[in-house]
Parts: sequence; C-alpha cells; structure tokens
Amino acid sequence: MRLYTNPASPFGRKVKVLAHETGLFEHLELLDEVLTPVAPSDAVSAANPLGKIPCLVTKDGMALYDSRVICEYLDGLHGGRPMFPAEGGARWRALTLQALGDGIMDAGVATRYETFLRPEALRWPDWVQAQKLKIGRALDRLEGEAANRGDEPDIGLLTIGCALGYLDFRYAADTWRNGRPQLAAWFERLDARPSMQATRPRQV
Ligand code: BEZ
Repeated sequence: MRLYTNPASPFGRKVKVLAHETGLFEHLELLDEVLTPVAPSDAVSAANPLGKIPCLVTKDGMALYDSRVICEYLDGLHGGRPMFPAEGGARWRALTLQALGDGIMDAGVATRYETFLRPEALRWPDWVQAQKLKIGRALDRLEGEAANRGDEPDIGLLTIGCALGYLDFRYAADTWRNGRPQLAAWFERLDARPSMQATRPRQV
C-alpha cells in the first residue's frame, strides 16, 4: 500500500503510528511529498482531489483519505486488539478524543500556514490568537480528564499523542505543559512507545 504523506504532518504521523501499533507498518510504502495548499503535489492531487495528505492507495488501487478513514481501514486489516473500539461508550469516547486531537492539529497546521506561508502583509494576528485559544481550551479539557486516562492506546489516545507531538515540534515556545502536569506526565509515557519514537516529525 502506498501512503502519501510528509514527515512534518501530524495527520500523516497518526496513520504511521497506528500502522506501527497494529504491525502493519512494513506493508506501507511511504511517499514523502513536499506540498502546501498553494503548491500542491500533482501525485497527491491525482489520488485525492482535495490535494491533501495523508492519502493511502490500497493494493487494489482504492485511494483513501482522510486520516480518520485510513486509520479505520488499516484497523480492519490486522488481528490484534482493535484501535477503534467496536461499540458502546469506549467507541464514542475514542472517536471524540480523535476529533479533539484532529482539531488541535487542524488549528496548529492552520497557524503554521498563517505564520509561515501567508505573505507577511496579509497576516491576521487575531485569527492566529483565536486558533491558539482553541488549542489552549482543548488542552485544558485534556488536562482535566488526564487522571482517568489509561495507557492502553486506542485511536483517540494516539491522535492526542500526535497532536501534542506537533505542538512540541512547531510551537515549543508556547510551553503547553505549563499548568498541565497530568497531561504532560501522560504524554511522556505515550511518547516513549516505539511507535511514537519511530515517527518523530521532521522538517523536509
Ligand atoms: C508542517 O510543516 O508543519 C506541515 C507539513 C505538512 C502538513 C502539515 C504540516
């Protein structure tokens, strides 16, 4: 299976982490694409008309996107403990945590584009501040719930891990751990997993 991704993308990392956790990583051929919303990749756009990564092309040629769809697809391919709980409260909790983590990543990536890609004269500080406030509220919610959180990963916890990893990668100066000791301690344990260590984000 071909995975179009980028070593800096937190959404691409989420797919790679899940593939490691489920023993599927060796079945992925990683195609690292350099792209932005204003400089798309022809190869990615041919597979995903939205021009976005990650995009998985399966063995039978089906193109899957976004990270939520790819992760659920991969989770159906292995015989181990499911990363998407099948039903009940565990399922809805995991999917909602996934949505929260995706939202943090969305806000972080949008801020990156606003502060790095957008021409300086067109930048809008209030908009950046609103994204950062959104991230802060999400982190406060996670801190409040951190004491009850187990260490057995599922799609929700892996997504939160990738979101926090992206904040460390792009926004280390914002020191998200300040005032959030429980979340910081939980992340330290998750981040030590081989799946997280093997997928550290990097600039290309
Ligand atoms: C980044 O450089 O932060 C980035 C690259 C690709 C996708 C998302 C984020």
